[in-house]
Amino acid sequence: LSILVLHGPNLNLLGMREPLIYGSVSLNDINELLLEAGKILGVKVSSFQSNHEGALIDAIHHALGKHQGILINAGAYTHTSIAIRDALSAVKVPTVEVHLSNIYQRESFRHHSYIAPIAIGQISGFGAQSYRLGLHALVDYLTKAPD
Ligand code: DQA
Repeated sequence: LSILVLHGPNLNLLGMREPLIYGSVSLNDINELLLEAGKILGVKVSSFQSNHEGALIDAIHHALGKHQGILINAGAYTHTSIAIRDALSAVKVPTVEVHLSNIYQRESFRHHSYIAPIAIGQISGFGAQSYRLGLHALVDYLTKAPD
């Protein structure tokens, strides 16, 4: 199995960006954590970050036939981008949505996700571990028979 991890805008600044909310872990640390978790699970993990909506959409299109699952933290695009949601719906690659912070504890404009209704599920609020938990959930979904 090959999993595509997508990081949206401003996540390149992790570590120095609002550490009280997002923690002190860098994006590199998260990508390494995911590579390690992928090794344990026996899946290939490729990560891509962009601050540009269109670049994220292109990456979703290119996932077709190449990756069996997508793990996405779309950052603020979570709350604004119908286009990213439509791209995920178009390619139909099973997707898990993750957030470092618990978006439901924060400003009301973060409570709505355009991605959540078309994702398998969402993991929010566990810091960098949200990604590891999300990867496990996605691989579980892809490898286990439905109950
Ligand atoms: C975030 C939450 C979003 O509301 C915010 O815009 C981000 C990060 C998170 O991981 O907690 O950029 O997706």
